[in-house]
Amino acid sequence: MKHDRYAVFGNPVAHSLSPRIHAAFAAQAEQDMTYEAIHAPRDGFAAFLRRFVAEDGRGANVTVPFKEEAFRLCDILTPRARDAGAVNTLSLEEGVIQGDNTDGVGLVHDIEHNLGWSLQGKRILLIGAGGAARGVLPPLLGQRPARLMLTNRTPEKAEILAEEFVRATDSPLTTGALESLSESFDIVINATSASLANAPIPLPNRVFAPDSLAYDIMYGRHTPFLEQAGKAGASVLSDGLGMLVEQAAESFYIWRGLRPVTRPVLETLRAEYR
Ligand code: ATR
Repeated sequence: MKHDRYAVFGNPVAHSLSPRIHAAFAAQAEQDMTYEAIHAPRDGFAAFLRRFVAEDGRGANVTVPFKEEAFRLCDILTPRARDAGAVNTLSLEEGVIQGDNTDGVGLVHDIEHNLGWSLQGKRILLIGAGGAARGVLPPLLGQRPARLMLTNRTPEKAEILAEEFVRATDSPLTTGALESLSESFDIVINATSASLANAPIPLPNRVFAPDSLAYDIMYGRHTPFLEQAGKAGASVLSDGLGMLVEQAAESFYIWRGLRPVTRPVLETLRAEYR
């Protein structure tokens, strides 16, 4: 019998944890499926995806740098893909490509279910105004924080992004300039790519309220952002490994209609990254 075929497309993609995560979910839920990593050339994603569709692929994840291109290639988009302007999950049926984005919900699930922090009523600082920040902004707003301040090294970009999502006069969403932030926050989320370059962010220490949560969406490294947060009084420091597992769980649910139990998968990976 033929297995249902899934894949993650990226460049680079060799070190992606997604094949391991989905293999664990499939074993747990007794699903007859395969999941592979496909390295597409930077100018060849569309062609690689078309081939995968023609070969009966059932679904795919999309990672850097193809999420925006995937968005443009979809025949149907979910509202959260539309909000994000990028797609990380493709469902393929009879040649029709449907795109969704599970990154934001993955972050929310990790913070709420794994770390046990409710977002409702909290003061949240979100740093970044690129693709990653855009993807997580609407789901964070959906949890009804008391405040959500968006800040970015280039402040104009944060303002442009925020304008799209301020839908009511009493919106909790505001913007502020990174270096002159004067308030403190319960939850500070780094959605910039600074950590990739191991670069610190010019952030005043006062943004971290005593006992706050500092979350870096990058995983596998104690970043300069988390280092600063720890010294400035944040009591919980988290990288984005849980977000990675949770966004995968949401993709798995879209494809298979089953919610995997994420904790053992996260614990196994966490033990390796400690
Ligand atoms: P991604 O898809 O990862 O969000 P992106 O769209 O290129 O990537 O956006 C990168 C984000 O990280 C931007 O918000 C960028 O700030 P600018 O808009 O000012 O460029 C932010 N960023 C990258 N390096 C940074 C650094 N060293 N300090 C602060 N912010 C940084």
